[in-house]
Amino acid sequence: MLNLGAHNAPDFRATTLACNERVSTPKAASDGLLRMVRFENVGVRYGMGPEVLRDINLHIPPGSFHFLTGASGAGKSTLLKLMYLGQRPSRGFMQVFGHDFAKTHRNDLPALRRRIGVVFQDFRLLKNLSVFDNVALPLRIAGEDEKRTRNNVSELLDWVGLGSRLHENPDTLSGGEQQRVAIARAVISKPSLLLADEPTGNVDDRIAYRLVRLFEELHRSGTAVVVATHNDALVRRFSQPVLVLADCVLRPGPGQDGGKGDAGPGHKTR
Ligand SMILES: Nc1ncnc2c1ncn2[C@@H]1O[C@H](COP(=O)(O)OP(=O)(O)OP(=O)(O)O)[C@@H](O)[C@H]1O
Ligand SMILES: [Mg+2]
Repeated sequence: MLNLGAHNAPDFRATTLACNERVSTPKAASDGLLRMVRFENVGVRYGMGPEVLRDINLHIPPGSFHFLTGASGAGKSTLLKLMYLGQRPSRGFMQVFGHDFAKTHRNDLPALRRRIGVVFQDFRLLKNLSVFDNVALPLRIAGEDEKRTRNNVSELLDWVGLGSRLHENPDTLSGGEQQRVAIARAVISKPSLLLADEPTGNVDDRIAYRLVRLFEELHRSGTAVVVATHNDALVRRFSQPVLVLADCVLRPGPGQDGGKGDAGPGHKTR
């Protein structure tokens, strides 16, 4: 059982989690991190079908937080897939961390992707690794000190209520438990950009609220966060900007005048 009620979300500002170059290096700031994600007139079609996303203009600044809503099939996962460089747009200009996606060689994509934490809608946990090893993987790939990795992974899995399941195979966990492992894996390395696709779809309202608070904590420590969700009631509990996908286009949520789906500096950021 998740036991988050009595505890505050982990303070990512105070942790020793493996931190990438995001915050401190002047070069990082100047080489495009200030631009983070920028889309200009982006369109996506699958095969010869109609465009499922059209004329997307979007700017995700560093350290911002956005919910992404829209009906099933509206294109939320497709938009996130573009952002984690899992798919190229059919048209338009797309830049991530200052890199023009169209001009980025595929050999250079893994390094960019390592700066992005992703919670996949279908979790994508590695079945041949334990719960602990799934979450530790990003830190180990980054060459983080093993003792620190062990401490941080244990602490985070404890916080998401899975402290007693560390050595189990993900297959033995419920859907909601697997979802929490996927979230822990995505946030453990404190990425520059966190993309969460329906991250609370399998948990109850109380746990969902706690998990979004975890994302807010990460956002307060400097990560840009985008959370795709169907759960309008959950979105209303947080005073964070909302982007809405409908009829293949992206717009700011009701009462938010971001202008043509541009989640730019006019939107609330910290
Ligand atoms: N690999 C694919 N091949 C063909 N069409 C696809 C593919 N992936 C998505 N689509 C289509 O693109 C549209 C948007 O799908 P997407 O999965 O992005 O929506 P979504 O908003 O994430 O939906 P949900 O809320 O159900 O997860 C849908 O019409 C879908 O059928
Ligand atoms: Mg989806």
